[in-house]
Amino acid sequence: MKTKILRGQALSFKADPFIVGDQASIHYESDGLIFLQDGKVTEFGSYKNLKDKIPAGAEIKVYTDSLIIPGFVDTHVHYPQTQIIGAYGKQLIDWLNNYTFIAEQQFADYSHAEKIAKVFVQESLRAGTTTSAVFCTVHPHSVDAIFEEAQKLNLRMVAGKVLMDRNAPAALTDTAQSAYDDSKALIKKWHGKGRLSYAVTPRFAPTSSPEQLELAGALWKESPGTYMHTHISENLGEIAWVKDLFPERKSYLDVYDHYGLVGERSLLAHGVHLTEEEFTRIHKTGACVCHCSTSNEFLGSGLFPFERAKDKKRPVRVGLGTDIGAGTSFSHLQTMNESYKIAQLQGYSLSSACAFYLATKGGANSLYLDDKIGSIAPGMEADLVVLDLKSTPLMDFRMSYCKDIHEVLFILMTLGDDRATKAVYVAGTQVYGE
Ligand code: GUN
Ligand code: ZN
Repeated sequence: MKTKILRGQALSFKADPFIVGDQASIHYESDGLIFLQDGKVTEFGSYKNLKDKIPAGAEIKVYTDSLIIPGFVDTHVHYPQTQIIGAYGKQLIDWLNNYTFIAEQQFADYSHAEKIAKVFVQESLRAGTTTSAVFCTVHPHSVDAIFEEAQKLNLRMVAGKVLMDRNAPAALTDTAQSAYDDSKALIKKWHGKGRLSYAVTPRFAPTSSPEQLELAGALWKESPGTYMHTHISENLGEIAWVKDLFPERKSYLDVYDHYGLVGERSLLAHGVHLTEEEFTRIHKTGACVCHCSTSNEFLGSGLFPFERAKDKKRPVRVGLGTDIGAGTSFSHLQTMNESYKIAQLQGYSLSSACAFYLATKGGANSLYLDDKIGSIAPGMEADLVVLDLKSTPLMDFRMSYCKDIHEVLFILMTLGDDRATKAVYVAGTQVYGE
């Protein structure tokens, strides 16, 4: 296949800025070249250093007033909730009962699932997101609908059927055994097909019986390379409910841990109210916390404790999640904007390098995919987003006062949204924009 080359400002992360600091973590080229071949990046460096390597006949696309970065990684999102973004109401449990469980029942109809999956994928690309870890609904065919859509564009994606056998409407419940059987069949059908991975997906402890969690743990154990995706410690009422339902367990995390659901590739959404003991256990097991800022604000769940999560003594893997539809934006730029404010309210300043790291390589690291996606380097899959540094008149004006790339990143995450997505490349093929 012919080499395709992108030229422009470009940025990627070599290392974790939470550990090595902002300056040492970034690889920034003010005039960069990125060589793409057979779906992968083959070279990334300055125009000056690479210009002599440009093969005769290579197609070169020049992006001016732009910044090319790795595609965003959304570590927690619900595609069926695309239709309920911005549903006015109270906190988590009321919101689930009044909106979520109503909307998810419509996914009994496969054509509805197909329709929403299409909208979800288009909105994700419009926001510059190229990999997502996705909750489906209890219906096995809801997984088919999203994976089929992802497959059309060769997107890397993680998804799974929701497991719920109690505390939900009858139309949305499975049983411990049917959840196991249906998930096992879906793993066989989809896991490892192209760029798709399966996640065993118990919704959260209150909607699964001990028997269901037990079987989910067994299934996860016997399905190497799959993920476990759930929610944890999002809301104080939810935490009290879990205590009531599982009085013998010492913490919320311990419920999942007891059933063998905590380890590498466990995606734990929210973790707003995790204790020191729980953070330590998450660190030790290599699980990840998906921080969903716009959702936590929208549902009034609380302030994610960044400083504790990233404590250098026992840092935990953290990825960003949009958590659509409790989250209010598909855009990781907006998600970073709100994460910054959440940190500020606790006296902690999240640098632009740290925020963009979480949205790219940090998210990939949380998913144990950082050898494949999340950065621009030879051998990495060529999932890229080109951000427009003049996406609005105000951004254009404000950028003219930026002194360095860190300030540029900060303005992007403060003023930017999906209007800043100029182009998106998935495995080297342009799938969105100019
Ligand atoms: N906890 C259990 N289910 C959900 C959900 O759908 N959204 C959010 N934000 N939290 C949950
Ligand atoms: Zn969620």
